[in-house]
Amino acid sequence: MRQAGRHLPEYREILATRTFLEVCSTPELAAEVTLQPVRRYRVDAAILFADILLILDAMGAGLTFAKGVGPRIARPVRRRQDLENLQQPDVEATLGYVFDALREVARGLKTEGLHDTTLVGFAGTPWTVAAYLVEGGTSKYHDNLLGWSYRDPAGLRELLDRLADVTIEYLLGQIDAGAQALQLFDSWGALLDEERWQQVARPSVERILDALGDKVPTLFYIRHGAHLLNTLKQLPVNALSVDWRQPLSAVRKVVGDKPLQGNLDPGALLSTPEEVRSRVKTLLQEGQGGAHIVNLGHGVLPMTPVENASAFVRAVAELGQPFPGDD
Ligand code: CP3
Repeated sequence: MRQAGRHLPEYREILATRTFLEVCSTPELAAEVTLQPVRRYRVDAAILFADILLILDAMGAGLTFAKGVGPRIARPVRRRQDLENLQQPDVEATLGYVFDALREVARGLKTEGLHDTTLVGFAGTPWTVAAYLVEGGTSKYHDNLLGWSYRDPAGLRELLDRLADVTIEYLLGQIDAGAQALQLFDSWGALLDEERWQQVARPSVERILDALGDKVPTLFYIRHGAHLLNTLKQLPVNALSVDWRQPLSAVRKVVGDKPLQGNLDPGALLSTPEEVRSRVKTLLQEGQGGAHIVNLGHGVLPMTPVENASAFVRAVAELGQPFPGDD
């Protein structure tokens, strides 16, 4: 999840003298910060250090991350005519650094004896990436995006399809480079009601999932999406990943035994190790009724004490059940 490393001193040290994008685009550094939490906590998976917005830079929209401000898109795309300004990138040439980082992580996991760690790649859904591209960064009202979606649905559809096509190449490249599972982040899908999610967001998601087939297991993350679960349970993904706003038992009522990932409130890690352990116990109970990949419901907050993050991982290892086949 986003910001996994920001609470770690070893991460802050690397970022102290470099920008976020510099680290993303330097494979040795991206690999190093990907490996840091795995080394420290022995979690079951490594999530690649990258960002869902990197493809926008590759498409010529111009991406920067100002400290404390978040992402900025230099050339937003707000209407059909703006689509001309978007490039059809050579994915290998423009995003090859991400593939190199994955190869470097795979190598690192091997040499450090972390053979059982699953390497997870990711991308944003077209709708969620568009939420930043159309607005020019993080937005309060998403007025440009929502306005476009009502005014000219066909034009927006063209944008989402173009984002989907780049995303497909990008994800297939990640698989080639060693990603063993892929997560799609739909952090802004819940701006849409169920019917509009189906009409506006779904086609580009399905285009991606169709292209991936069953090459690797896929996970689909939705934030704030209780009203979308009925639709999302039908997606051909291996697991649904949800935020903390609904207990997993309530999610299960809608999605049945579909494998779930989540969903401890990242804020719970601001408490004490004892409290974290007790929350994990509840979380494990809530998740019963199908496979459960224990995780937070969103990114680790930067001010999270290391000992609480550690207590989370320890509690899951002690109280949870291993997947069949694990020892
Ligand atoms: O946590 C990790 O290091 C894993 C890699 C990862 C990042 N972003 C690195 C990152 C992943 C999986 C993401 C996904 C991502 N990026 C999402 C989807 C998940 C979610 O959080 O909903 C989204 C919406 C983004 C876009 C994004 N990236 C925003 C809006 C911001 C800035 C706002 C903020 O809260 O910091 C980022 C920055 C970002 N991406 C950081 C990291 C480590 C922080 C960089 C910094 O502050 O130096």
